[in-house]
Amino acid sequence: EKGTYPHYMLKEIDEQPLVLRKIIQKYQNDQGELAIDGEILNAMNSADRIYIIAAGTSYHAGLVGKQYIEKVAKVPVEVHISSEFVYNTPLLSEKPLFIFISQSGETADSRAVLVSVKEMGYPALTITNVPGSTLSREADYTLLLHAGPEIAVASTKAYTAQVAVLAILAEVTAIAKGRKLEFNLVKELGIVANAMETLCDSKETFEDISRSFLSTTRNAFFIGRSIDYYVGLEGALKLKEISYIQAEGFAGGELKHGTIALIEDGTPIIALATQEGVNLSIRGNVKEVVARGANPCIISMKGLDQDGDTFVLPEVHEMLSPLVSVIPLQLISYYAALHRDCDVDKPRNLAKSVTVE
Ligand code: M6R
Repeated sequence: EKGTYPHYMLKEIDEQPLVLRKIIQKYQNDQGELAIDGEILNAMNSADRIYIIAAGTSYHAGLVGKQYIEKVAKVPVEVHISSEFVYNTPLLSEKPLFIFISQSGETADSRAVLVSVKEMGYPALTITNVPGSTLSREADYTLLLHAGPEIAVASTKAYTAQVAVLAILAEVTAIAKGRKLEFNLVKELGIVANAMETLCDSKETFEDISRSFLSTTRNAFFIGRSIDYYVGLEGALKLKEISYIQAEGFAGGELKHGTIALIEDGTPIIALATQEGVNLSIRGNVKEVVARGANPCIISMKGLDQDGDTFVLPEVHEMLSPLVSVIPLQLISYYAALHRDCDVDKPRNLAKSVTVE
């Protein structure tokens, strides 16, 4: 039920702090330590390489998850789009573990890969929001997102839940491998939940930003470097699927290799700046597009912000920034669709779960 909300999407955006707190609670043991099923831990620890398979928004969460698993648990990870994997199967390692990420657990493209993975005899873990879904039943192991039903076609709370569960999976695997970690994930996720709340309370600001950057435009570009690049891809998908504005996400450094040709007077560029190591370079990319007439919407993280930034996000651990930086992008897309009288919850040509290949 959407209650007093005009759309499920807005309700689901608002539920994100709650969902995150629920995830923290569900993945804690009686001692208050993060914990996951021992069999899943064994599977993570025996794998020499992890293959993440997903589509759409879940694929974007997988890109973030690769960073977590490689940086924290130190296991190599490849992320593949389900529909491509079937034809372009990479050379597999000796002891692969497949992780399927799917909100619905019913995506046919992902299921096709799971069927062939099981035929080859490899272990599979499904991360899904729907217990008992096809991908959950057919995989060896399941991790649940605990996000509650997601009704709007545009995925919002499932994305942040996927990113959070992947962070927990990486952390618990690292601890099991005896690694000492420099941060306390439970504490950091708690800070993120508070930051999410602040952002959800700033809807008017995001409505204004959406109006000033997106009300009449035909297209929009999202840029970021490192983990911000992946969030930009997700922001672009969100904007295009519900507002029908042509939107693309790019790695900041790739602009000059072609895309910059598309910049015209007033083209909105939504730039994310949440990562210290690349702050100067992404700022450089913003200058390049501004010199060609672009209208920059800069979303930065507190501590890395500069005069003139459009919005400054509350500070969280920089690895967890996707959990907060995606919220302005979700809300900006929501208002862009609303202002254009689009059917926010049921965009044209799309279904909530894509059960055909
Ligand atoms: O249920 P799944 O996570 O497997 O769905 C994958 C995509 O179809 C889905 O994320 C889609 O891209 C969303 N509409 C994006 O908002």
